[in-house]
Amino acid sequence: MDGTGGTPSAALAEDPPEEAVGPLIRGLAVIRHLTLTGGRRVVSELVRETGLARSTVDRILGTLARLGYARLGEREVALAPPLMELGNAYLAASRIPALLGPIADRLAEELDESVSIAVPDRDGVRFVHQMPRRRTMSVTFHVGDLLPAESAAPGALFAAHWSPADWERWRARVAEDPGYASFPVLPDGTARGAGTFAARAERARADGWSVDDQQIEPGLIAVAVPVRDPDGRPLCALSVVSHTSRHTAGSLRDAVLGRMRETAAAMERALASPSGAPGGATAAGVDEAGGPAAGAPSATPSGASAETPADAPADPATGASAETAAGAAGQREPGAEDRATGPEYIESFARGLRVLTAFGARTEAVSLTELAELTGLPRATVRRALITLTHLGYVAAEGRLFRLTPRVLDLGFPCLARLTLSRIALSHLAWLSAQVNDSASMAVLAGDEIQYVARVPTVRIMSVDITVGTRFPAYATSMGRVLLAGLPREERDAILARTDLRPFTRRTITGRARLAAVLDRTARDGYALVDQELEDGLRSIAVPVRDRAGRVVAAVNVSSHAARRTAEQAREAVLPLLRRAAARIEHDYHIATRFARIPVA
Ligand code: PHB
Repeated sequence: MDGTGGTPSAALAEDPPEEAVGPLIRGLAVIRHLTLTGGRRVVSELVRETGLARSTVDRILGTLARLGYARLGEREVALAPPLMELGNAYLAASRIPALLGPIADRLAEELDESVSIAVPDRDGVRFVHQMPRRRTMSVTFHVGDLLPAESAAPGALFAAHWSPADWERWRARVAEDPGYASFPVLPDGTARGAGTFAARAERARADGWSVDDQQIEPGLIAVAVPVRDPDGRPLCALSVVSHTSRHTAGSLRDAVLGRMRETAAAMERALASPSGAPGGATAAGVDEAGGPAAGAPSATPSGASAETPADAPADPATGASAETAAGAAGQREPGAEDRATGPEYIESFARGLRVLTAFGARTEAVSLTELAELTGLPRATVRRALITLTHLGYVAAEGRLFRLTPRVLDLGFPCLARLTLSRIALSHLAWLSAQVNDSASMAVLAGDEIQYVARVPTVRIMSVDITVGTRFPAYATSMGRVLLAGLPREERDAILARTDLRPFTRRTITGRARLAAVLDRTARDGYALVDQELEDGLRSIAVPVRDRAGRVVAAVNVSSHAARRTAEQAREAVLPLLRRAAARIEHDYHIATRFARIPVA
């Protein structure tokens, strides 16, 4: 680490300008380091690796925890999904995923091959949209990933426009980092293409397309075409990715280049159309589902909302306790009024992050005045944050206006975009389980059954041991009823019609009409309580987890021994906590899925 959070690069080794904000530089370096090491680290190691003082690291982590951007355990820290607001701000402001993503997705479907969109990021290629299909290679790339320009198909297209200084920087990196250590998503040292890069960039300029013939990985081939801005410079590139089992590099190009060029032309039209123009109807703040975007106008990081689990453990799997996490986060739910106080909170760092997220509210370059309005911060504060962010390469100045750069995606995205819904849920389920002293779980619908995808057990109360992967009939379980109640009517009726409604206990509801009425009621109430219908002595209560479009994608529950509390007590004492846990899971999930594809498990 060079202390600025940079990849090994001569340009960043420069001393910061005098007015740069030191705590912001150090705070971003910690986020960047955590990202490079997979998003989770033992704090003492983080201290050693960054060369920062223990007290500095503690205050940085305390600030991140308060903002909901990290979770602190006893010894460990983990980056949390709300941190993706930073990358989301860049992606929203760039308009590329919103305008071009749907066009790329249609091409992927038509060709039945993976399609991606990448932007130039200094001497690298940064993915901003991915539509995976028929994946057969061992590496899969996610939104936010950075590949070396000489290896990925779009790199030669971008390098065709490089200045001598850009080539110089690239040569320095190749010399300094021959094993590609600064590209953590690459399988170790497998990338190649440096030797032929200059010649390929020359050819790409003449041909208007380029190819990756197994430079990233044996078997993987990709063809790329540029999507140009009105000045003819590549704004981004469209890639079609296939495998040597289906194509040679030549046959892939012959099969897809025509359609790719038509698609790139359609993308250029979309960028130029009135709705695509800066400030147009697709401005950030309205997401693809038409609703207000969850991570959008973040004058205040949404991590500061009341649903932020600052008191959730860093990682239940490694035993980080809820108590220590709560201690580090101030033992209370962070509210707007108490955010700016406390020994672990570094105001100037938090304000710098606020400036960064504020960019997401606009699709055009913004002025200092506008950023001051968006953040509610004094101009002098915004100015110094901008000086710092520009120095670090996260912001580019265009005269008196500023834009985020794709480098912002280095701040958490590559590791957080690899999360699953079940993984996101785990720390919230651990919090819930600790609150109610009972097991907490998440399940999804798998055919006519529910399947557990996450579970935080306490004592075993079922006759069978429930683990991740366990299945039960949906109709007789609380999570199943919530999931069935969330289905479109025809799907729900079809499942009920083909399910054999067997009684498991004397109480199991087996009448179809009665079950349908119970499901209607579940949909109305927003929860299901199932009292000893699956097994005597077992009572459970469940609520839905919805995606950004409001569809029920999972259910979470608390199950307890029937003797522990009455059904009425479960409704009164457990349901509010269960709902809070579900809201926290949704909060994280909605930020994470704004631009990234997050599978359930
Ligand atoms: C991808 O989208 O996964 C991809 C794109 C271009 C490459 C390799 C992989 O060269």
